[in-house]
Amino acid sequence: MAEFLPAKVRFNGDDFVPYLTKARIDKRIEELAADLMYDFEGKDPIFIGVLNGAFVFLADLMKHIHIDCEIDFLKLSSYGDEKVSSGRVRELKEIDADIKGRHIILVEDIVDTGLSMKYLVDLLKSKSPSSVNVVTLLHKKAATQYDVPLDYVGFVIPDEFVVGYGLDYAQKGRNLAQVYRPKPEGE
Ligand code: IMP
Ligand code: MG
Repeated sequence: MAEFLPAKVRFNGDDFVPYLTKARIDKRIEELAADLMYDFEGKDPIFIGVLNGAFVFLADLMKHIHIDCEIDFLKLSSYGDEKVSSGRVRELKEIDADIKGRHIILVEDIVDTGLSMKYLVDLLKSKSPSSVNVVTLLHKKAATQYDVPLDYVGFVIPDEFVVGYGLDYAQKGRNLAQVYRPKPEGE
């Protein structure tokens, strides 16, 4: 079967339509991977994916990284099943790797308010790594309230709720092969 790329999809009574196509995402991932390889060649970085949302992006990104590197995951929770941030962050799964003295590349699906990313960067920095860099596929720049340095950004997007390519709406839609946005009124 082909990848899951419907022209319209409905979750919880809300319609979503394609926004960032598979082709655009693939092209951007190749560019990000090239930048990362240039910056981390010889540094044996550890990519740390933030579960659940980043699993698709990280998997696709990794396949374009040709330098020595390692991969680990951690899990955060802040949203529950709502579309609006609860303003709280919890660590649900810790990283297994010993990151002391290592170069860390945090991989996120999306930075919205920036709360999760700020929490994570502070948490990882407290474990004495050599460096912490951040890669996020999406950045809702207008919604960001916390000052976090985003070193590699796939796409800056408007402040609206997106789903697909790992991102969920109340846990649904992660399996969509590209990023969808709410269907505009009247379309
Ligand atoms: P922040 O802490 O407000 O920056 O929120 C970051 C997290 O909220 C992300 O890692 C996502 O899991 C989730 N999130 C924020 N915006 C969206 C969205 O538009 N769609 C799906 N998940 C989102
Ligand atoms: Mg996330």
